[in-house]
Amino acid sequence: MILWEDRMSMGNARTDSQHQTLIEKFNELSHVFAGNNTAEIRLAAGELLDFLQFYAAWHFEQEEALMDQVHCPIAATNKQAHASFLANFGEFYTRWQVSNMDLEMARQTYAVLTDWITNHIMTIDVQLREFVKE
Ligand SMILES: [Fe+2]
Ligand SMILES: [Fe+2]
Repeated sequence: MILWEDRMSMGNARTDSQHQTLIEKFNELSHVFAGNNTAEIRLAAGELLDFLQFYAAWHFEQEEALMDQVHCPIAATNKQAHASFLANFGEFYTRWQVSNMDLEMARQTYAVLTDWITNHIMTIDVQLREFVKE
């Protein structure tokens, strides 16, 4: 379970709300884990991957455009990190497509991706804050 904190804010309402949507989706899976129902966990982990397949790429595009627009010095680092996430995520996605989602894969999906997203927001994305004024 990830809790949204003010220190995660990028200072841009649209991007913050996209991050909150991402966090909500991860939290939905975390909630299903707590229910301990294997079938539901496998289903929810697959749904999260399907959601991320579109939403992560879309969010990254929006955020990269915003950083470019305000000439944020972290823009290139952010793009590289997004590309590496998508490559990593692609491996999860393919693994899921060619085999069944089992409990271990569901756990890994949650642990690895949640970790990356929260870390990325708090270390890289937040550096935009001083370059946007709303
Ligand atoms: Fe982001
Ligand atoms: Fe980012």
